[in-house]
Amino acid sequence: MKIKELQLDFEALFTQVAFGHGYLHYGYWPDGKPAVSSLMALGQAQQAYFDKMLSLFPGDVKTVLDVGSGTGSNARALTDLGYAMECVCPSARLNAIANEKLKGEVPIHETVFEDFASNKTFDMLIFPESFHYIRLRTAIEQALKYADKYILIFDYFRHGDSEGEDAPRGSHKQFLDVVGKHADQLEILHDEDVTEQIIPTFYVLDEIKNTAVRPFAAKVKQGLEQDHWFYNKLFNKFLGKAYKRSQRTSNRFETFPQEYQYRIILMKKRG
Ligand SMILES: C[S@@+](CC[C@H](N)C(=O)[O-])C[C@H]1O[C@@H](n2cnc3c(N)ncnc32)[C@H](O)[C@@H]1O
Repeated sequence: MKIKELQLDFEALFTQVAFGHGYLHYGYWPDGKPAVSSLMALGQAQQAYFDKMLSLFPGDVKTVLDVGSGTGSNARALTDLGYAMECVCPSARLNAIANEKLKGEVPIHETVFEDFASNKTFDMLIFPESFHYIRLRTAIEQALKYADKYILIFDYFRHGDSEGEDAPRGSHKQFLDVVGKHADQLEILHDEDVTEQIIPTFYVLDEIKNTAVRPFAAKVKQGLEQDHWFYNKLFNKFLGKAYKRSQRTSNRFETFPQEYQYRIILMKKRG
């Protein structure tokens, strides 16, 4: 299992247990950093992310393909709002969680989007924080095949280009170049840089780590070293790496915007 997959599994468990919704995307903070950095504020900001995405749904959308559907939280909320949903996600573990949440009401296609095949098409395809995982040119070609009207991307792009236009994690410029090659079929209706509204997510996580988790872990470690040599040995063996990581200062709030920009993009199919 890749580290990124393990991280998603952990986040799925955490956001489900802690917040009850199971969203795997970042938070959206229209008013900037919260006064108090808490997990509760983070859970609410993840809900605000969903609300922001929903605010761009055109009125004539009824059927939606959720690409990179995670724990099925977006699909659950959209089904409850009356949309006819289908999901695509390659992770069997995330799909098991989603299936439970969606109670068999929503078909889940267990595959990467690059290999997705169906004889159905949908009014809109959505990519909530999943677009960067998918090979760029293939993602657009597949989206054109399965979207009847709209494509909505809410995700981050690197500032620097990826190698070639069909690599995942491309830049916004590479994205625009690929879309430009399909200008006869695709029109961009909305393209907004929301990096400023996303990065408080990192501010909150950095704060929680630097001011709560790090000193707590250091205290536990110091106690073990002083009084419990055996448990200290076990700790070093099984948790040594995680402890070292916990002691590093996090400053993703500053580094994320140096590397990425977060955008919400709505495109319409012509004709
Ligand atoms: C950060 S999670 C976002 C989950 C969900 N959209 C949300 O907003 O909570 C990324 C999702 O994309 C999925 N994914 C990764 N590679 C993919 C691919 N090539 N095609 C489709 N989905 C992919 C992951 O399994 C995961 O479900």
